[in-house]
Amino acid sequence: MTSERVHDVLRNGEPGSSVEIRGWLRTARHAKGLSFLDVSDGSCMNGLQVVAPPELPNFEREVRALTTGCAVRVGGELVESPGKGQRVELRAAEIEVIGTTGDDYPLQKKRHSFEFLRTIAHLRPRTNTIGAVWRVRNVASRAIHDFFQQRGFLWLHAPILTAADAEGAGEMFELADSEAFFGRPTRLTVSGQLEAEIGALSHTHVYTFGPTFRAENSNTSRHLSEFWMVEPEMAFCDLDGDAALAEEFLKAVIGTVLEECADDMAFFNERIEKGIVETLEHIVETPFERMSYTEAVAVLEQSGQDFEYPVRWGVDLQSEHERYLTEEHVKRPLVVTDYPAEIKAFYMYANADDKTVRAMDVLVPRIGEIIGGSQREHRVDVLERRMVAHGLDAEAYWWYLDLRRHGGAPHAGFGLGFERLIQFVTGMANIRDVIPFPRVPGSVEF
Ligand code: 4AD
Ligand code: MG
Repeated sequence: MTSERVHDVLRNGEPGSSVEIRGWLRTARHAKGLSFLDVSDGSCMNGLQVVAPPELPNFEREVRALTTGCAVRVGGELVESPGKGQRVELRAAEIEVIGTTGDDYPLQKKRHSFEFLRTIAHLRPRTNTIGAVWRVRNVASRAIHDFFQQRGFLWLHAPILTAADAEGAGEMFELADSEAFFGRPTRLTVSGQLEAEIGALSHTHVYTFGPTFRAENSNTSRHLSEFWMVEPEMAFCDLDGDAALAEEFLKAVIGTVLEECADDMAFFNERIEKGIVETLEHIVETPFERMSYTEAVAVLEQSGQDFEYPVRWGVDLQSEHERYLTEEHVKRPLVVTDYPAEIKAFYMYANADDKTVRAMDVLVPRIGEIIGGSQREHRVDVLERRMVAHGLDAEAYWWYLDLRRHGGAPHAGFGLGFERLIQFVTGMANIRDVIPFPRVPGSVEF
């Protein structure tokens, strides 16, 4: 008999059938003559209730000593559960204690703060909340691959080590000794975009999905030093096509999570962010709003709001501005386009006004910017001028320029911050709680 996952037992297990499971005790309640064990294996929100009768040979010696956190294997027969909230429970015929724990096990059945759970990142995935976050990450990842694969996008594996500064913002982690090894300074990538552009100009539709790194010293609830990014790139595509893809993409992934993670989402809805399921359902059904940066600034200037950072044409939008626009003004996701060239990266397509570029940010309630993208500058001369204006060494980007000289074509793409997406769908307030092992300034323990 091989072990089954608790998820499958709870969903498909028939009363009368024999079942074996392995997992960890969420709780152990030792009543008169019977013990009740709630066994979880991370496969779903609920654990399986195990009823341990006194006939078990190790009942007094081992079962009665079981506590929260112990690892067990349980074999027995499924029976209809008289209790509320579960269809079946497991009458144990055999309980093997695989791993015990002391009374210093930190996850006792009470609510722990997320700050505390970050200090025990090796155990926190056994909690309801973090366990659910991991499952939502998993389903969202698969939904992302499905979305692109069904549309013929090729998954391109962008490198983690690079010599290029893809954003031209200088926020890169440099690797000690890399110069001796590679013959030039090498860093952790901030984005796979430049490589994705190579892919788009040979395979028309590609996407990357992997970790990226930013050495910006931002200790906020929305910044990590290491985060995962999804970066589609499409040849023969302009900013409108790019924005349309971003909208379709976000809706598809959120829709899949709502459908496939119903139990976990019900938990987030009840315990983390009231009403989030309804909000997300609404977002999936409603067209996103569009607005140029210039219009957005006008809205902000006329809002009568007392922002911490005053807003005027030319400044980068702060999170408070982004949130006002999406939460208060349009009350739905908003695509802001055509930002001033000075505040955006060197590679964005210059508009004819010579002041703005074909950039877009997708803003969503609670998070602000969740996606950043643009049509790319494919005119070599314009691109070279932009690089000089940004103080970049055009020679270091020779292949990026060369790509435009040989069969260059309009192309566009965007980057989704995967952890911001997970924050958005789960309602989790801090980005450190939606990535298994957060890296932020001063913290790299696990
Ligand atoms: O807007 P960004 O910097 O855009 C790029 O990197 C482009 N190369 C994308 C592209 O066009 N292919 O980053 C994209 C997204 C942001 O919208 C945000 O969601 C997320 O990445 N992001 C971060 N997430 C967590 N921690 C950080 N420090 C982040 N910086 C950006
Ligand atoms: Mg951005």
